[in-house]
Amino acid sequence: MIYLDYNATTPADPKVVEAMLPYFHDFFANPSSIHGPGYEARKAIEQAREQLAKMLNSKITEVYFTSGGTEADNIAIKGVAFAQDKRKKIILSAVEHHAVLNTCEYMAKFGFEIVKVPVDQYGIVDLNFLEDVVDENTIIVSIMHANNEMGTIEPIEEISRIAHRHGAVFHTDAVQTVGKMLINIETMEIDMLSLSGHKFYGPKGVGALVCRKGIRFDPLSHGGHHERNKRAGTENVPGIVGLGKACELAMVVMEKEEVRIKKLRNKLWEGVNQRISELKLNGHPEKRLANTLNFSVRYVEGESLLLSLDMNGICASSGSACTSADLKPSHVLLAMGIPYEIAHGSLRFSLGRFTRDEEIEQVIKVFPGIVEKLRSMSPLYKKND
Ligand SMILES: Cc1ncc(COP(=O)(O)O)c(C=O)c1O
Repeated sequence: MIYLDYNATTPADPKVVEAMLPYFHDFFANPSSIHGPGYEARKAIEQAREQLAKMLNSKITEVYFTSGGTEADNIAIKGVAFAQDKRKKIILSAVEHHAVLNTCEYMAKFGFEIVKVPVDQYGIVDLNFLEDVVDENTIIVSIMHANNEMGTIEPIEEISRIAHRHGAVFHTDAVQTVGKMLINIETMEIDMLSLSGHKFYGPKGVGALVCRKGIRFDPLSHGGHHERNKRAGTENVPGIVGLGKACELAMVVMEKEEVRIKKLRNKLWEGVNQRISELKLNGHPEKRLANTLNFSVRYVEGESLLLSLDMNGICASSGSACTSADLKPSHVLLAMGIPYEIAHGSLRFSLGRFTRDEEIEQVIKVFPGIVEKLRSMSPLYKKND
């Protein structure tokens, strides 16, 4: 199998699994328990909090563990909006992940005004539009760091400055960048940041919301006093330990990996683009995650490409994993102004820590044949022949 779907999820690093294992049996106690084993579990959580804070240059007390990116996004947006009663506007971009998109839609039911900022052809948010809509009525501006589908990186420092000029909170869904790129929450002026363990070689079902001191947010769930009263429920100790270890590993390999993976990603694009006509690169040519390659193949459906690739042992994606069962073209590509029929033929390859040169060569070898076969069956292609 050639796995090129790292933006959907990553395998846990063997070192992460090794770090987690003792917390299923040897140190299984409840971290809230007042006894030795309970204290060991609590210590492990606090060590992970330290590892995470170190990676993002936040304070340890600014880290709140969650069940993943979706929950972190929910807590940020709902939590900040419900903690105040003066402002009514929530701003997001048109290319957000459904975790942000649907959370904001839900908030409209409570009378909040939801404003979507459009993006350009590369998926970069329109800063002039943002300047015009952010005002003294804005509670929160939630714009992702990098897009999961085409990898475009948003100018979050500028976005944050615009939000702050009007006293709004700036939240970024950094699920696709944490562990892949250096992030400094302080210098980047990020108020709230969501991340997810399974996107950077940690376990699934664990993530965090990092929230700067002084930003008030209501908890979503009510119960015990966990996570300083902000996220009730017994902590997922093995998961949190794994997340901490994933941060520690990322800090060591991140910069080198970015260079290696980008080379492979570019090789893949050049390889297929030279051999196949009428491909269109989606996303920004430079301001893009080093591991992500999204392009459209004219005259064929993304789903057919995916199935044929799968039959050849190659795993890719036609959009975000959450919507790959959905035949509607991606809202991200449509927001970028890509015509419906071209968006339909889009494909995402996302590379990662275990991607090897031979795998890229194999894809370059088999992919043109797949496209040729599918195009030969496409009435649209014949018409244009
Ligand atoms: C940008 C982005 N935000 C949020 C999520 C959701 O994260 P999780 O799977 O941890 O809930 C994902 C996962 O696909 C994502 O790519």
